[in-house]
Amino acid sequence: MIALASDHAGYDLKEAIKKHLVENNYDIMDMGTDSRASVDYPVYAKKAAEAVASGQCDRGIVCCGTGIGVSIAANKVKGIRCALVTNEFTAEMSRRHNNSNMIAFGSRVLDVQTVIRLLDIWLNAQFEEGRHQRRVEMLDRM
Ligand code: RB5
Repeated sequence: MIALASDHAGYDLKEAIKKHLVENNYDIMDMGTDSRASVDYPVYAKKAAEAVASGQCDRGIVCCGTGIGVSIAANKVKGIRCALVTNEFTAEMSRRHNNSNMIAFGSRVLDVQTVIRLLDIWLNAQFEEGRHQRRVEMLDRM
């Protein structure tokens, strides 16, 4: 199960991501927002992050204008490792080395096609464990 959330600025991007995930048979939980009307991004990022932290969802995807606000908000929830990703390398490495359980995108930073490409890389990349496991455990103790 994948949690999805955005503010108004990320709404169209969230909807495009949702369409892509549904077409590819992922189960999704949409935590809002539900329109382009102005809202506060911490509210929605927190909902998705808590769904992941509680185990209700395996991963989470959050969108806002820059991706910065939602990633900061998500990372305040214990157990969340939310990666703000802008290219293929960081999408892949955030899984391989950081075991990221959430990803953040900026709708005013990347076009939809690029986001979908990075998202698929992230969804398919595997955590390498080994020495990275120790570091991730250190993060989770902070
Ligand atoms: C909304 O205008 C914008 O501030 C928000 O989407 C996000 O970019 C904040 O980090």
